[in-house]
Order: sequence, then C-alpha cells, then structure tokens
Amino acid sequence: MKIRHAKDYADMSRKAANIISAQIILKPCSVLGLATGTTPIGAYEQLIDWYRKDDVDFSEVITYNLDEYRGLSHDDPQSYHYFMREKLFDHVNINMENTHVPDGSNPDADAACAEYDAMVNAAGGIDLQLLGIGNNGHIGFNEPDDAFSKGTHCVDLTESTIKANSRLFDSPDDVPRQAYTMGVQNIMHARSILVIANGEAKAQAVYDMCYGPVTPRVPASILQLHTNCTVIADEAALSLCPRR
Ligand code: PGA
Repeated sequence: MKIRHAKDYADMSRKAANIISAQIILKPCSVLGLATGTTPIGAYEQLIDWYRKDDVDFSEVITYNLDEYRGLSHDDPQSYHYFMREKLFDHVNINMENTHVPDGSNPDADAACAEYDAMVNAAGGIDLQLLGIGNNGHIGFNEPDDAFSKGTHCVDLTESTIKANSRLFDSPDDVPRQAYTMGVQNIMHARSILVIANGEAKAQAVYDMCYGPVTPRVPASILQLHTNCTVIADEAALSLCPRR
C-alpha cells in the first residue's frame, strides 16, 4: 500500500485526477471502477477541466460504479446513476453505453447483482478502481461485518452510514435502507486501486485501513493485501498516521 500525503482537498483531488488521467492516456479503453460520495467530486471536476483542455479523452473508457441505492430509479436525483451524470458523464465525451451502475430499480436483488458481476467479468475486470472510505471503514457499501463479502450483493445500510449520507437527503428517513454494492472480492480483483480520503472525520478509518489488523470489521483494511493500492489523503485524514 502506497500512502501519499496531500496538502488539502484540492491537492488530493488533483493528484487523484492525475492518476486516473494517466491510466486513460496509457490505455484509452481502460475499465474504470468509479465511486460516488463527496470525496471524488473534486477529482471529477479536475478531469472535466482537463477534458475541456483536450488533455484527456473518455471516448473509449468503460466505467463500472461501485454501488447504487436499492429502490431508486435511474432518474431519481438521489440515485448514483444521476450523480454520475451530473458530476462527470454529462460533461465529458464518454459513451453512455459504456457506463454502468448497479440497477437499483430492479427489485430482484439476486438477478440485478448477478447481472452486474457478469458484465464486469465480460469487460475483462477493472483496471483502476477509485474508492472513497466511510467513517466506519466501509468501501463501496461493504459495511463492517463478520466476513468479507465476495461478489455484488444487496446490503442493509448501517445506522452510521444512513446518518452520514442523510446530509444529501431532506431527512434521514428519506435515505434508502438498502443498496446493491460490489463486494470486497470484486474490489480486490481490480488491477490497481486508488483510495482517496479527506477531513478529520476519516482519520480513524484511514489509520485502521493502513495500519490496523486486516479484519472485516474494517472492510478497507483488506486493501493492505492488494499488490497495487495507492492511498491519497489530506493532512487531516492522515492526522493519526505516523509521518514517514
Ligand atoms: P464520502 O463517502 O465521500 O461522501 O465521504 C465515502 C464513502 O462512504 O465511501
């Protein structure tokens, strides 16, 4: 695991966008695993800026998002489908047919999740997986548990995640209670992984991810076992970690 210090959110976002854009330049038909949440927004803005300057071309890029709330349609403004269009896809030359998000509108969880795994496999797996990290150490919506999850599956969101995500909804009652998420095994199969984190609220999770025991109680801790994982975090998120 490589840990890279960023000065602040802007610096973290630019460094992350640099890695994503290098991936696309080196392999224009890259399969990217993408994340939602507030952490990646700055990196997406930077990529949009570089796209407008003709520095990065998304025309052949294929994307798979980590997760989606169960029960939300693609056009629901709270859905991750909508988020990705608003924050990235609508502003770059990506072919929308090459973008994928789990189908939260499919009430048949087993079918929706199996179909998603089959699509990721058919694409040849993920070249670069972008991840945020939850305050409780979750990745995707893989919450602390007794065992690491495998493929895409339906999860019950924890109270702490519902509370953390409620800032994006009118009230905590509006936050869906379930989501479809890629599993930890899906994430670990990515050929490279980029985790980004900022702010003091993430400091404990970042410490546990990088230095704690590898345990499903902190799903992100398994990333210590990945052979090509980079963490870019700002000073506040790294405040509990030893300085190198
Ligand atoms: P955030 O979420 O980027 O909104 O902090 C990260 C996560 O929960 O994975």
